Amino acid sequence: MTITIGLSKGRLLKESQGILEKLGQDFEYIKTTRQLVIKDESRDLNFILLKPSDIPTYVEKGIIDIGIVGKDTLIENKRDVYEVMNLSIGKCRFSVAGKPENKEKLNQPIIRVATKYPNITKKYFEEKGKTVEITKLNGSVELAPLVGLSDMIVDLVETGNTLKANGLVVYEDVFEVSARLIVNKVSYRYKDSGIQNIMDTIKAWEVEQ
Ligand code: PRP
Repeated sequence: MTITIGLSKGRLLKESQGILEKLGQDFEYIKTTRQLVIKDESRDLNFILLKPSDIPTYVEKGIIDIGIVGKDTLIENKRDVYEVMNLSIGKCRFSVAGKPENKEKLNQPIIRVATKYPNITKKYFEEKGKTVEITKLNGSVELAPLVGLSDMIVDLVETGNTLKANGLVVYEDVFEVSARLIVNKVSYRYKDSGIQNIMDTIKAWEVEQ
């Protein structure tokens, strides 16, 4: 039975190199091709390349059996899938950040926040009893406080280079992020040996690191 694996385009794909090579794949090809579906008939594997935020949707619907996706994406886009492994890749922080001189804006009655993650942001501030006005952006979020679109941002911080290059600092950490392996609930039952093989291969790769 063929197993279909969803891969996140972008920085998580680069970090998935070791896992993909351990699964016998040509990483250079996967990284550079414009093909969206890559078939490895000899191993009964299909790989699908897509935007990270779409992976949980495809896995829930059973189009994809297994997905490699960041915890941030899973929390933001709640889907009915099994989260079966916490991987050692894609590690970063999820933080509130802004201009150093604007940190006291955290105490304003209404805080203006720009983010790609409106659900996480709303929940985080609500739990602290704070009211936020959220602007949902799709990228280059660090621009928002620089040009006055927002008081601060909620975003991923990996190396911290983007914040630093734009004169921004972390105010608070929200949670730690890492990549997770998610599995479709039906596939988990009916393709159990194939899925188990893939999980074992990934575990073996992690032990080697
Ligand atoms: C992510 C994230 C930050 C940046 C953090 O954006 O949203 O902007 O990376 O990484 P750093 O701490 O290593 O600098 P990404 O580069 O994926 O692109 P985007 O701005 O288009 O969302």
